[in-house]
Amino acid sequence: MRNLGGKTVLVTGGGAGIGEAIVRRFVAEGARVMIADIDAAAGKAVADVCDMPFVQLDVGDVASFEQAIAATVVQLGRLDILVNNAGVASLRAPIHASTLENWHRVINVNLNGVFYGMRSALARFVEQGSGVIVNLSSIAAMVAFPELPPYNAAKAGVSQLTREAAVEYARYGIRVNAVAPTGVWTPMNARTALETDDPAGFEKGLTNMNPMPGTASAEDIAAAVAFLASDDARFISGVTLPVDGGYTAV
Ligand SMILES: NC(=O)c1ccc[n+]([C@@H]2O[C@H](COP(=O)([O-])OP(=O)(O)OC[C@H]3O[C@@H](n4cnc5c(N)ncnc54)[C@H](O)[C@@H]3O)[C@@H](O)[C@H]2O)c1
Repeated sequence: MRNLGGKTVLVTGGGAGIGEAIVRRFVAEGARVMIADIDAAAGKAVADVCDMPFVQLDVGDVASFEQAIAATVVQLGRLDILVNNAGVASLRAPIHASTLENWHRVINVNLNGVFYGMRSALARFVEQGSGVIVNLSSIAAMVAFPELPPYNAAKAGVSQLTREAAVEYARYGIRVNAVAPTGVWTPMNARTALETDDPAGFEKGLTNMNPMPGTASAEDIAAAVAFLASDDARFISGVTLPVDGGYTAV
């Protein structure tokens, strides 16, 4: 067992996709989880099924994040683990044709949102002398996907923030790591597929993109998050762990 029993966890974007799988994995391992999502209906549905609390959260709003962390401490007694999972897809465009609106929207959720969560959680973790953060990065942090400038930049930023915090906070007994998934079939990619001229081709491309056959599942990503959050990873900090069937090894 991974010693996640009794741990208290806040999972952002826990109402769908990879976040929902992370919530279910932590609950299955005996943790108590606060499900946080901007989509109240989706988040509450997961919370009800898991018999865990829900808080509405917009990670791109620093006050909202402070409140969600405070609510977690009130309802679960303390915060041991923060999983910064919430993220949004970018509209496709090369840099010269990008809108500023899309740039700011994606950077605000995918990079500022992670920083806000880390900032708020780390203040408490320093006080309590322990804590674990797992951030959702992406293989887009390591290789550049054309026409997704803010997504690539935000995820590279998440991986670098992860390293920075790992070094900075090691002395306080705090670990900070990230997971970098390859393409996973989630509501995010289902929506992205519908925006293309060939949704079936998009889905097929997702299935065939890695050296390993098949597609990564949300549960594959959740397993890596649970590992990094657990005491099994007690001497691991600052890594971005690809869960990519060998994609970034090529
Ligand atoms: N799906 C993939 O192929 C893939 C690959 C690499 C990395 N990732 C990363 O994994 C994470 C989860 O992705 P997913 O595919 O499960 O996405 P998803 O869209 O399927 O689910 C994301 C969840 O986050 C919530 N959310 C969105 N904006 C929010 C906000 N501002 N505040 C709080 N909650 C918000 C949504 O309501 C939703 O419940 C993201 O950070 C994403 O960038 C996904």
